[in-house]
Amino acid sequence: MKSNRRTILKLLSASGAASLFGFKALSGQAQCLTTDDILGPFYLPGAPEIAQFAPDGAPGTTTLITGTVYANDCETPAPNAKVDVWHANDSGGYEDENYRGVVYTGDNGQYAFQTILPGKYLNGAQFRPRHFHYKVSVMGVALTTQVYFEGDTSIPIDPWASSPDAAERIIPLSEDQQGRLHGVADIYLDVEPIINGQKSQGFSPNRPFIQHVIPNPMSTEGKVQVFLPEAASASLLLFNLHGKAVNSIVQAQQISGGLHQWSIRNENQHGLRLQPGIYILQLQVNGRPADSKRFIVV
Ligand SMILES: [Fe+2]
Repeated sequence: MKSNRRTILKLLSASGAASLFGFKALSGQAQCLTTDDILGPFYLPGAPEIAQFAPDGAPGTTTLITGTVYANDCETPAPNAKVDVWHANDSGGYEDENYRGVVYTGDNGQYAFQTILPGKYLNGAQFRPRHFHYKVSVMGVALTTQVYFEGDTSIPIDPWASSPDAAERIIPLSEDQQGRLHGVADIYLDVEPIINGQKSQGFSPNRPFIQHVIPNPMSTEGKVQVFLPEAASASLLLFNLHGKAVNSIVQAQQISGGLHQWSIRNENQHGLRLQPGIYILQLQVNGRPADSKRFIVV
């Protein structure tokens, strides 16, 4: 039933510490499921697979959203879920080419994107509250919904955001020392959990992770997207399935918190093409393994 669906929302503080916020599932799988919302007229299929939606130099407040997609047991992360997001620009207008993108959840079900805070636009005589549109899908199950922000004065007069169903989709935003906004939007899909060793690993949304290696399979070159909750020294190492390091993409580079993207080439440390097969990209933070992701080289 739609009326008893809920979303767990978490606050990511400026220091990177996360705290539980709002409702937590008590019992039964339906208690946690994220509610749906209207699609609206501005969805476009085929959005680019990028994690930074706003064009360089675009006006607006930089906003970083992280979250985890979970299965209907409310605790098993859903890897490889497609998270399709679109939103208005700073002036409240939708653009065909910008402010939309597709990211995929990593092995821990986590995703991240960076953009600007959506502007408000008129719906009749009233402004709609700021919001992100989401289409989230995995294993044939899809959810269309919207995410709003705490303190938005347009929420009480908006027929969709003011619905009790939307209450758990109104997330807090916190501001960091650079003036960037951070929010956490976890999504609970009505999909059966895949027990693959990912369950209840005790991760938290402020953990660094590799979001994406694209394309996968990779032929000549691709890119890797990494999220760090705070500034740190990061390394990206490439291993074959025998555990042998074959290349390093990033070596102990001091980077800021947020989303980062690097190019990755189909070559070993000697510049020679890799043997086709499965490889493991390992993220090290401050010298310690933090996450890894498998991808295929063809
Ligand atoms: Fe909208």
